[in-house]
This record gives sequence, structure tokens and C-alpha cells, in this order.
Amino acid sequence: MKNIKAIIFDAYGTLFDVNSAAEKSKEKIGDKWEGFANYWRTTQLEYTWLRSLMKRHKDFWQVTEDSLDKSMQTYKIDLSMRNELLDLYKILSPFSEVPEVLKSLKEKKYKLAILSNGTPTLLNQLVKSNNLENIFDDIFSIEQVGIYKPDTKVYDMPINKYQIKKNEIAFLSANTWDVSGGGNYGYNSIWVNRNNNIFDNLDYQPKLEIKNLKDLLPNIKSN
Ligand code: LAC
Repeated sequence: MKNIKAIIFDAYGTLFDVNSAAEKSKEKIGDKWEGFANYWRTTQLEYTWLRSLMKRHKDFWQVTEDSLDKSMQTYKIDLSMRNELLDLYKILSPFSEVPEVLKSLKEKKYKLAILSNGTPTLLNQLVKSNNLENIFDDIFSIEQVGIYKPDTKVYDMPINKYQIKKNEIAFLSANTWDVSGGGNYGYNSIWVNRNNNIFDNLDYQPKLEIKNLKDLLPNIKSN
């Protein structure tokens, strides 16, 4: 991949492990923790899409709470776990290779940014709690445009800020629908496929598929 000026990362599921909140509580939740974590994530995303379509925006933290409440009821999780799970969601762990790869990319002088559904407060907190605050040039939150991914207004944000062409952006997401959203918009979308999943049928095939961020370095060039 050539002529890349900016590398833009999705946050949840791509840099930060969304299942790590429930995983840290797995002693208390028991064997169902993983099913519960996946259900919470799926419900959270469905609520973002539905709210965008219904034009009834609520920010990502409120959507995270609403989806947690439904998921806890569905999986019969004791209500006393609610605050603990929410607190853990604010300090999700990055995937293991993430800090080291980001530092290498920074040394190579790429513009680095996050583009996420998260609120500015949540994203800043996540970056800070993982000691990544000196890495990113920008943290773009959908709160600046008031609608969730994959609305094109979201993908416009880095283009407007950096005044570069869509194909000068490498956009990385582990979320297949976000890869398609960014790709259909015109980015070079890269799929971070950590779990050997199957890609979506949404009019776009990733420009590149990688297992984790380490595979990015040998595959992109700035000229
Ligand atoms: C985000 C979600 C899609 O960070 O993972 O935008």
C-alpha cells in the first residue's frame, strides 16, 4: 500500500479489547462471560445503527449502559455487577501488540489518529489509562458529527482536517462492517482479522487483511 499519509484506527475491538471488561470479571460471572460479552457488544452496535436510522442520537456511553442493561437481564447477571462492568469498560486493555506497533509507526512520521463511535471523554480516558497519550495526532469522535458509523459524515472528519485524498488514508478496523463503511467511502480499508472470521458481503473487499497490527508495518509506505 503506497502513498499513505495518515493511518486511522477504529478504537473498540481494533486497538482495545471490548471483551476485556467481562473477562476481568469472569470469576464472578462464570462460564457464560464470553457469550455475555459478545451479546453486549452486538447489542451496543445494533443500538448505534438503530439510533442513527431513527435519528434519536444518544452518546456511546449511554448506548453502552442501555445495551449492558439488556445483556445483564438476558444473561441473568447479578445487578451488583453493573458498576464494576461499566468501570472496567472505561479502562479496556489494548491488544498486546498495539502499544509497540503504534510507537514504531509514530517514529516513521505517519499521521496517526483514532476515528471512533466513543465520546471524546471515553476515548481520552482509554488512551490515557493505557499510556498512549503521546501517540495520536487526533482523536476523532462521532460526537463531532452527531451520527454513528458508518455514516459518511464520520469518515469525512479526517479528510476535512488533513486536507488529503481518501486513498491517502489507511483505515484499520477489526469490525467488518466498519471496514466496508470506510472502504465504500474511499479509504484503503484494512481488516484486522484476529479471530479468523468471514468477511461481510457489503460491496467492499478489504485492501489488506492482517492478523494483528504487527502485519501492518511491512505492508504500507508513505511514498
Ligand atoms: C468504534 C467502534 C465501531 O470504535 O468499534 O467506533
